Amino acid sequence: EKGTYPHFMLKEIDEQPFVMRKIIQEYQNESDQIKLDEGVRNAMKACDRVYIIAAGTSYHAGLIGKEMLEKVAEVPTEVHIASEFSYNMPLLSEKPLFIFISQSGETADLRAVLVEIKKLGHPSITMTNVPGSTLSREATHTLHLLAGPEIAVASTKAYTAQLAVLTILAVDTAQAKGIELGFDPLKELAIVGNAMEALCDQKDQFEKIAYQFLYTTRNCFFIGRGMDYHVALEGALKLKEISYIQAEGFAGGELKHGTIALIEEGTPVIALSTQEHVNNLIRSNVQEVEARGANVCMITREGLERPGDDVVIQDVHPLLAPLVTVLPLQLMAYYAALHRNCDVDKPRNLAKSVTVE
Ligand code: F6R
Repeated sequence: EKGTYPHFMLKEIDEQPFVMRKIIQEYQNESDQIKLDEGVRNAMKACDRVYIIAAGTSYHAGLIGKEMLEKVAEVPTEVHIASEFSYNMPLLSEKPLFIFISQSGETADLRAVLVEIKKLGHPSITMTNVPGSTLSREATHTLHLLAGPEIAVASTKAYTAQLAVLTILAVDTAQAKGIELGFDPLKELAIVGNAMEALCDQKDQFEKIAYQFLYTTRNCFFIGRGMDYHVALEGALKLKEISYIQAEGFAGGELKHGTIALIEEGTPVIALSTQEHVNNLIRSNVQEVEARGANVCMITREGLERPGDDVVIQDVHPLLAPLVTVLPLQLMAYYAALHRNCDVDKPRNLAKSVTVE
């Protein structure tokens, strides 16, 4: 039930701080340490490489999961689009572990891969919001997202839940390998929850930004570097699927290799900067597009902000910034779709769970 909310999507965006708390609670033991399925922990320890398989928004979560697994847990990780992997399987390592990320647990493209890798005898983990779903039943292990039912076709709270569970998995693996981390992941996720809440309380601001940047536009670009680039891809997908605005996410440094030709007077560019080591670089990309007339909306993190920035999220752990910066993008997509009279919860041509290949 959507209660007093006009749309499920808005309700599900608002539920994200609550989902963070739920995940912390469920993945925490009595001594405030991470509690994780032994089978999952052992599988992570035993593998020499992780292959993340997913589609759409879940694929975008996988791209960030790779960075977490590599940077935090030092596990080499590849991320693959499910529909590509099944018919063009890359060379596999000696001891691969497959992680299927799927909100619904029913996506046929993922199932096709699972069937193939089971024939080869490889272990798998399904990370899903639906315990008992096909992918959960057929994989060796399951990790629950605990986001609660997601009804709107556009995925929001499942994406941030995926990032939170990937964080927990990466940190647990690091701890099992004896890697010193220097941060408490559950505490950091609680801080993320608070930062999300602050954004949910500023909806008017995002409605205004959506109106200013997206009401009549034909297209829109999202740029970032590193993790912010992966969030840019998700921001673009959200916007195109519900508002039908042609949107694309780009790595800031790639603009000059072609895309910048599309920038005209008034083209909206949503820029993300939450990673200190590339803050200067992305800001020079912003100058390049502004010089060609782009209308730039800058989203950054406390400590990295500069005068004139449009949205400054609270200071969270840099690895977890994507969990927070995606909220403004979700809200801007929501309001853009609303202003343009689109069917927010049920966009044309799309189904909530894609059970055909
Ligand atoms: C986008 C969206 C889709 C799904 C994709 C995978 O908002 O919802 O891109 O993310 O169809 O679905 P799951 O995660 O159920 O496998």
